[in-house]
Parts: sequence; structure tokens; C-alpha cells
Amino acid sequence: MKILVTGGAGYIGSHTYLALREAGHRPVIFDNFCNSSPRVLDRLGQLFQETATCVEGDIRDVGALEKTITEHGCEAVIHFAGYKAVGESMAEPLKYYEVNVGGTERLLTAMRNTGVRKLIFSSSATVYGDPQQLPIPEDHPLSTASVYGHTKLVVENMLRALYDADRQWAITILRYFNPVGAHPSGLIGEDPADVPNNLMPFISQVAVGRRPYLSVFGDDYPTPDGTGVRDYIHVCDLAEGHVAALQMLEEPQCTAVNLGTGQGYSVLDMVRAFEAASGRPIPYKIAERRAGDIAACYADPSRARALMGWTAQRDLTDMCADAWHWQSRNPMGYLDIAAE
Ligand code: NAD
Ligand code: WQD
Repeated sequence: MKILVTGGAGYIGSHTYLALREAGHRPVIFDNFCNSSPRVLDRLGQLFQETATCVEGDIRDVGALEKTITEHGCEAVIHFAGYKAVGESMAEPLKYYEVNVGGTERLLTAMRNTGVRKLIFSSSATVYGDPQQLPIPEDHPLSTASVYGHTKLVVENMLRALYDADRQWAITILRYFNPVGAHPSGLIGEDPADVPNNLMPFISQVAVGRRPYLSVFGDDYPTPDGTGVRDYIHVCDLAEGHVAALQMLEEPQCTAVNLGTGQGYSVLDMVRAFEAASGRPIPYKIAERRAGDIAACYADPSRARALMGWTAQRDLTDMCADAWHWQSRNPMGYLDIAAE
């Protein structure tokens, strides 16, 4: 299948590009590189001995989207493009509404105008807010504390309204838990432009010597060791979840599906697992709780198994080993390619 992949140069998009190619699909990346490097394309090309298909463009540009969909004969869209930093979304809300909500509306308009009505959308477990039950099923009430989370909720509502108005659409909303790790080749991985907001890239940068220690945000949560518990999922499992979700686009529907492992790990579990994988010490200091954080969050992944035949295959050791392989091979991320 020919598939438009918005944000395909980013962390999850680039891994999904590989999973799609491995499954025999023809992904077309559409990205403006505002949070990714064009160098990822060389790495993707290297893995397949081919030039990765990519159009540089902005999802707010309906004309560019229509031209790309038509010229490449795209039959479906996987929509990753958007901003994802929770803290920044509180400081610059309009930027987030413009791209995450406005950009998605532009994309849906381009799809409707070109007759493509098959979509996989990147949502997030952040739409469950502070969970009332664990593990979290898809029918859990939706709420969110951040502007970023609200943009995901608004888009989910927009997609359900679109399907209610036009039952030709086939839409799968994938709610990711905490994606971590990298492709085992060490050629692609997560490459934050600034100080990492997320735990795993921060730990990786401590291990490689770019940062002196990890601040553990709170050790007084009602969890087994007092630190926050999350459902970390290997990015290659997540990528394969998108390939599995394509089968859901064969029939009109609008369905939300969790992509998680169902297993929660604490911050200190992650520190210990990364130390074991890397053979490096991860110095840490206990710090104040981070505003807006919740104690624990992990998925009920049974719907993904029932509807798509998908379950996560990789464990915490794989997540840490592959994150370390990527980080140690590319200590400065894609910037290191210039030195090759
Ligand atoms: P990322 O920033 O690595 O990738 C996003 C890509 O979109 C980047 O390559 C960026 O250049 C591109 N982009 C941004 N704005 C664009 C625009 N206006 N036009 C074209 N391209 C644009 O992020 P990621 O971690 O790969 O996340 C992908 C999606 O998954 C996002 O929608 C994010 O909200 C969602 N998500 C991510 C996580 C996570 O922890 N990484 C968790 C849940 C959901
Ligand atoms: C995990 C745990 C922190 C950094 C965020 C977004 C969510 C989703 C994924 C996109 C927590 C602790 C972290 C650090 C720490 N993104 N931590 N020191 O908060 O579950 O989710 O990313 O949709 O929307 O909110 O992930 O990796 O930031 O934190 O102690 O330097 O690690 O307190 O318990 P989170 P995270």
C-alpha cells in the first residue's frame, strides 16, 4: 500500500517507515523537519539500499498535501506530524493549537479533496488524565491537564465527528503509552533538539556523559518505590502496531486502540535496567515532583490484541540495550553523521 506518513522523519515516524518497508508497503514521508534532521533519510536509505521517498512540506499547506497524495497515489495516511512538548504547550498554546489541531484539519481537508479516507492518528495516553483505574482500558473517561493533551482530545473529537458525518471514513486512533528505545541497527533513534523532557533520553545522555546526573521527580508517590510508574514500550513494537493497524482501515470505522505493554515500571526500575544494559553508572538525585505528573499509568492492551492481533514483543532489557546502542554510537544524535 502507498501511505503518506506525515512527520515520518521524526522519532516514531522513522521507525514506522522501516516497519512499513519491511512489511512491503511504500511509505512517502511528508515532513518540514522542524523537529527532525534530513539526515535520518540517509540512515533509512542505508538500511534498505534505496533512497527514502520524502517530500519536504508543512501539514498546514493543503495544496502541498493534495499534490503529494495525488502524485504518489497515496491510499492511506499515518499522521505523526505535530508538536509534543507538554511544558512548551503551556507557554505557547497557540503554536500547539495551530499545528496539532489546525494542521490536522488541513490534512483531513486535503484527504477528503483527494478521496483518501483511511487514517491512522497518533494520540497519547495523556488523554486519560490521572487514571481512575489501572490498567487503563480505551473506554476510560477522557480528560487532560495540558494544552498538548487537549490538542489530542480535540483531534480525537474532530475525527469522531467526521466519521459520524461521513461513514466512508476508516480511522484508527492509536493511544501510545511511553515510547522508548531505538532500532537495533543503532542507525536511527530519538534525538531531542534540546534538554530532554522525557526520562529515557535523559538517562541515555547521563550514561554517555552529556549530563552529570538524573533528577528523579518525586519519591513520595503511592507506588512500590515512591517514584512514578509508566508503561514503556519499545518504539519498534509501536511501529509494528501501525502496520497491524492498517488492516483496520479495510472497513469504515472510527476506533481508539491503546499501544502499550500492560506492564508498569518505576523511574528507579528504569535507572537500574539502563545501568545493566550500558554497564555505566547513572547518578541520580531525588528532586521535587514535576508539575502535572501522575503517580502511575499503564495500558490495558487487550483491544489491540483482539482487533489487530498485535502485542508488544520486546522487553525492558531490549528497550535499554537498543537505546544505549543508538546513544553510544551517536552521542550527539544525528549531528554525528557529519563526522562520518
Ligand atoms: P517527533 O517530534 O520526533 O516527530 C514529529 C515530526 O513531525 C517531526 O519530524 C517534525 O519535524 C514533524 N512536524 C512537526 N510539525 C510539522 C508540520 N507543521 N508539518 C510537517 N511536519 C511537521 O515526535 P514523535 O515522538 O515521533 O511523535 C510523533 C507523534 O506521536 C506526535 O503526534 C506525538 O504527539 C505523538 N506521541 C508521541 C509520544 C512520545 O512520547 N514520543 C507519545 C504519545 C504520542
Ligand atoms: C516518565 C517518568 C517522570 C524525566 C510524557 C507526556 C505524555 C507522552 C509521553 C506524548 C515520570 C519521571 C522524567 C526526568 C524523572 N508524550 N522523570 N526525571 O510524563 O509519562 O509522559 O511523555 O504524548 O504526553 O506527558 O513521560 O518520560 O516525561 O516521564 O524523574 O528527568 O519519569 O516524573 O514519572 P510522561 P516522561
